[in-house]
Amino acid sequence: MKVMVARSADKGNVLQTFEICASKEQTVVEILETIQRQYDPTVAFSYSCRSGLCGTCIMLINGKPALGCLTKLSGEQEETITLRPLPGKTLISDLVVT
Ligand code: FES
Repeated sequence: MKVMVARSADKGNVLQTFEICASKEQTVVEILETIQRQYDPTVAFSYSCRSGLCGTCIMLINGKPALGCLTKLSGEQEETITLRPLPGKTLISDLVVT
């Protein structure tokens, strides 16, 4: 699976592509943790409750606002998943907004 992650201006302001092995049952937050651990520790994203309550992990997943902690890859039709920060917020870094 290809995961394209928006990187912020200090990292080139590009979509960085990661080719990863992932289970369709993994959530987007779990995928991002794998990317951070195994591929690039500088990928920035945020989460807290992991249960859909706090809203900290909201981002654009394939162009639609969704919670990364609840969105599983099995719900996505495409083999490529694109992750961007939620628009209309102040961008802190990569997928982190405030
Ligand atoms: S981590 Fe709290 S809603 Fe996703």
